[in-house]
Amino acid sequence: MAIYAIWNNKGGVGKSYLTFQIASEYARQNPHKKILVVDLCPQANSSSMLLGGMERGEERLSRIHVQQPRRTISGYIEERIRSPYVSPNTGSSYITQVSWHNNSVPSNVYLVVGDEQLETQSSRVSSATSPGPQDAWRIVHLWIRDLITDIQASWNNETNCVFIDCNPSFSIYTELALTAAERLVIPFSADGSSKRAVKAVLALVYGIQRHTGDAQSEFFLNTDRYRMSLPTIYMYVGNRLTQMNSSSASAFRTVVNEIGDEIWNVWRTTPQSFCIHPGGASTPVSQRAFREMFQYEVNDANTASVVSGALGIPIASLTAGQKNVAGKNITVNQSQLDRQVPNIRDLVQSIE
Ligand SMILES: Nc1ncnc2c1ncn2[C@@H]1O[C@H](COP(=O)(O)OP(=O)(O)OP(=O)(O)O)[C@@H](O)[C@H]1O
Ligand SMILES: [Mg+2]
Repeated sequence: MAIYAIWNNKGGVGKSYLTFQIASEYARQNPHKKILVVDLCPQANSSSMLLGGMERGEERLSRIHVQQPRRTISGYIEERIRSPYVSPNTGSSYITQVSWHNNSVPSNVYLVVGDEQLETQSSRVSSATSPGPQDAWRIVHLWIRDLITDIQASWNNETNCVFIDCNPSFSIYTELALTAAERLVIPFSADGSSKRAVKAVLALVYGIQRHTGDAQSEFFLNTDRYRMSLPTIYMYVGNRLTQMNSSSASAFRTVVNEIGDEIWNVWRTTPQSFCIHPGGASTPVSQRAFREMFQYEVNDANTASVVSGALGIPIASLTAGQKNVAGKNITVNQSQLDRQVPNIRDLVQSIE
């Protein structure tokens, strides 16, 4: 039973795509566990994919958004804005069983639907952190943890696993996600600015100063002040490895390794910020062993990823052939599936 946040301070690196694929695949591999996805991004991309993709998913999302009461993340946040310091214990009424809307997703996947209202709520969430009781900051930052605890309790604490899709910006709701999470998955793409983005993650969450004298984030300082725990780094994932030719693959690997070096340096000073896995594994003593434990790569799935996301069909259930996406015929090649399916399967097997 673990709570994972999928976060990078950079946009478009695959947080939502990987949340969708990982949660669906984890559910397929663990049919006796309950899987919860909490969509803490106002764009609600992972919700849209889970609910059926570009057309059906979007339509269902709109329907859920106009229902009263609003059974979305914003519905819960609204309740907490009204009751900031006392948990209403109502979290379990905010879940949607995904297969009810999209039977391509295993029936053990549940979702707290994302909602654009998060943007307009964020200033009110921030206001609740002060003034108020002396530890208002702490209590407000635990809202999402409270939500998850309510849901787990309603499942009689049956074995479960939680994935939180985050917004790229380090907004108040991203802070709430990181407080709720026990483990952190950092996806990144292999382009020039990725290294800077990963450094930003390390600075904002773990207080790793980039330049001497840099101010540390209020999130890091307050987490320490209130003796709250930070998520531990579980894996960093180079996403969208292009296999067009060997030079693009090696350029990709160079960037992944450079970022790996950055994270390795953090490991050397603060190994307690990492989650050794699988359970019982010994602490890596060389950089190579460190990479084997924490560094992952996901291929660019090309057309298969477009069709998978657009139709809300997890990659393991997608078949090759012609698919209709928004009135256009798109062909999914078996060769793409042959690469992507085991890639996602193996990645998920490393998630406990
Ligand atoms: N492995 C992959 N292969 C092919 N396409 C991918 C892969 N991962 C992500 N994508 C595509 O890249 C685009 C950006 O991905 P996604 O929306 O998941 O990023 P994000 O980090 O959630 O973005 P944001 O910061 O805006 O929330 C999407 O169109 C997605 O389908
Ligand atoms: Mg996203």
